[in-house]
Amino acid sequence: MDNLEKIVSDALEQFGRIDDATQLEQAKARFLGKAGALTDLLKGLGKLPAEERREAGSRINAAKERIEAALTERRDALARLQLDARLAEEALDVTLPGRGAGRGRLHPLTRTQDRIEAIFRSIGFDVADGPEIETDWNNFTALNNPENHPARSMQDTFYVEAKDKDGRPLLLRTHTSPMQVRYARMHTPPIKVIAPGRTYRVDSDATHSPMFHQVEGLWIDENISFADLKGVYTEFLRRFFETEELDVRFRPSFFPFTEPSAEIDMAFAAGPSKGKWLEISGAGQVHPVVIRNFGLDPERYIGFAFGSGVERLAMLRYGISDLRLFYDGDLRFLQQFA
Ligand code: PHE
Repeated sequence: MDNLEKIVSDALEQFGRIDDATQLEQAKARFLGKAGALTDLLKGLGKLPAEERREAGSRINAAKERIEAALTERRDALARLQLDARLAEEALDVTLPGRGAGRGRLHPLTRTQDRIEAIFRSIGFDVADGPEIETDWNNFTALNNPENHPARSMQDTFYVEAKDKDGRPLLLRTHTSPMQVRYARMHTPPIKVIAPGRTYRVDSDATHSPMFHQVEGLWIDENISFADLKGVYTEFLRRFFETEELDVRFRPSFFPFTEPSAEIDMAFAAGPSKGKWLEISGAGQVHPVVIRNFGLDPERYIGFAFGSGVERLAMLRYGISDLRLFYDGDLRFLQQFA
């Protein structure tokens, strides 16, 4: 009974030192719990003579109330401290500049394609778009590339399991040339169109990807010659690379759908890659069989076609040596094309 004051002052002192809610509850148990200091005293009451019991009981209760009040006060104080700490930690500095919504930008190949379209539009070409899953007929047969002809093996091809409505094979187009057929069969000469888009071949290394882009060009009228091809294509390159200082060369080649056929090579006449020839396009005068497959009379209509690699043009323009960079989605690469 004599140590009642001591118990109270111990409790007050301990509560005051604790700044953690769990520890506070543990301290509470030491004083008010089942085996707590105060509880022990209350249990001892029964052994006291009856006349002392009443007085002692009320003193113990008074002590208990003081300890409980101190506990409540400390609990509230700790809760307030915790809240203050959280508010300080989560404080927003509304004067800070925002983080910005990372503005997106066009992929370098999209920029290249846009650029090609703008140049050809300005010299009177229409721009057409077509399907990436093609019929065997549009991709090969109509382009004078008959079934079982060895020229087909120039292009390793992805066939799809589905067939067209007549049960004929479908494939991922290996070039944009089927767009010549689609477009020419829906329009009447003069036909003057480019058709950019994705193409697919079983091919993959630093300069080839199983998916790549081409832009097809076709100009058919009554008197379009190889000289027009040279003029149009050279003019396109000069404008695409924004320089007159480039050389263009037409190297004899073979395509079933053109006769004569050529590969178009170019080289810069100045700068770091000066004099280095690079193949950028297949081209030629459209074969009479193909003109007939357009539904036109080859005795009357003549013209040229070309098919250029969009990645090649982009690599040359931006000085990129590995074509796979275009497809990696690496922001460090992509962000360089503002
Ligand atoms: N389609 C040919 C290829 O992919 C390129 C080409 C297009 C050649 C038009 C001549 C005429 O290789």
